Amino acid sequence: MTKIRAAITGVGGYVPDYILTNQELETMVETNDEWITTRTGIKERRILKGEGKGTSHMAAEAVKELLKKTKTDPKDVDLIIVATVTPDMPFPSTANLVADMIGATNSFSYDISAACSGFLFALATGSKFIESGTHKKVIVIGGDKMSSIVNYKDRATCIIFGDGCGAVLLEPTTEEVGVMDSVLKSDGSGAQFLKMPAGGSRMPATHASVEANLHYAQQEGATVFKFAVTNMADVSAEIMQRNNLSGDDVKWLVAHQANKRIIDATANRMGLTEDKVMMNIEKYGNTTAGTLPLLLWDYEKQLKKGDNLIFAAFGGGFTWGSIYLKWAYNSN
Ligand SMILES: CC(C)(COP(=O)(O)OP(=O)(O)OC[C@H]1O[C@@H](n2cnc3c(N)ncnc32)[C@H](O)[C@@H]1OP(=O)(O)O)[C@@H](O)C(=O)NCCC(=O)NCCS
Repeated sequence: MTKIRAAITGVGGYVPDYILTNQELETMVETNDEWITTRTGIKERRILKGEGKGTSHMAAEAVKELLKKTKTDPKDVDLIIVATVTPDMPFPSTANLVADMIGATNSFSYDISAACSGFLFALATGSKFIESGTHKKVIVIGGDKMSSIVNYKDRATCIIFGDGCGAVLLEPTTEEVGVMDSVLKSDGSGAQFLKMPAGGSRMPATHASVEANLHYAQQEGATVFKFAVTNMADVSAEIMQRNNLSGDDVKWLVAHQANKRIIDATANRMGLTEDKVMMNIEKYGNTTAGTLPLLLWDYEKQLKKGDNLIFAAFGGGFTWGSIYLKWAYNSN
């Protein structure tokens, strides 16, 4: 029987208008542009302003663009998956809210929580519904409103994160394109190094939890850095090895944008030159689940049918992984 693969057939994205620069951060915490630029590669990030606007707002905007570009009727969408750690609310899922906002009345929908690896986990999950032949149009969204859980008095986290969202459409193909392989991992013993302690069932919101800043993301930066460098490089090398890919075979590295030094180390290990590494960290910072689809959004015009892409991510949980995907279309 011919194998059905899941191909990305379109990309949409949304970043808010407000730009938070390193210079503005200098007025908020004890930091400076030079430190942020050399230690992370970030120059600015986007912030979603406006009462009542959550991650679903950005996701719906990204999907509206995606539907327009791919000439897709929202009623034909079978499944919507949103990867996020900043859902509009604990329930209903952000995916459900997005489905309603875009008029996807025939789809089912749910969220995936895997922090910075969220989009990879969602892409792998969505692909399975296509590959099994049960679903024809799956929208995979990655997005976070990190500004809603970042403490702008904590210089260890507030310099890194920003808001943004991207979305892709997955459709079946029998050609040799689409998702070829995935390696996905998690290790809950890393939870202590990157987390938002309060607001869940273990520590519901109280006056004391708010006063203790426990509803903000907390990170032990240096520890996370160490794990991220090793694991992202390892998993990318593993997926290349088991698919017999050399650095020359890979056209693009689509790596999570948390720190330019982590991305450089991964590219180095894979034997890739700088021109093969997608990079938008300087203008968006780390948008958590939004990062990978926003890279595709920014680079879509440069992608050609048959290009080998290696996705790599590392994030809270710990979660990490890599996906090997062959690009399915020329965008112009
Ligand atoms: C957060 C991160 C940028 C910090 O960089 P770092 O080089 O590890 O910095 P450290 O935390 O070791 O701190 C080094 C020094 O800079 C200082 N510093 C920390 N943040 C600073 C800031 N924003 N501005 C200026 N100085 C700062 C520290 O106080 C420390 O000073 P000291 O040496 O006098 O004690 C980096 O650890 C990182 O990127 N971590 C991984 C993030 C990640 O991948 N997350 C996973 C996905 S979310």
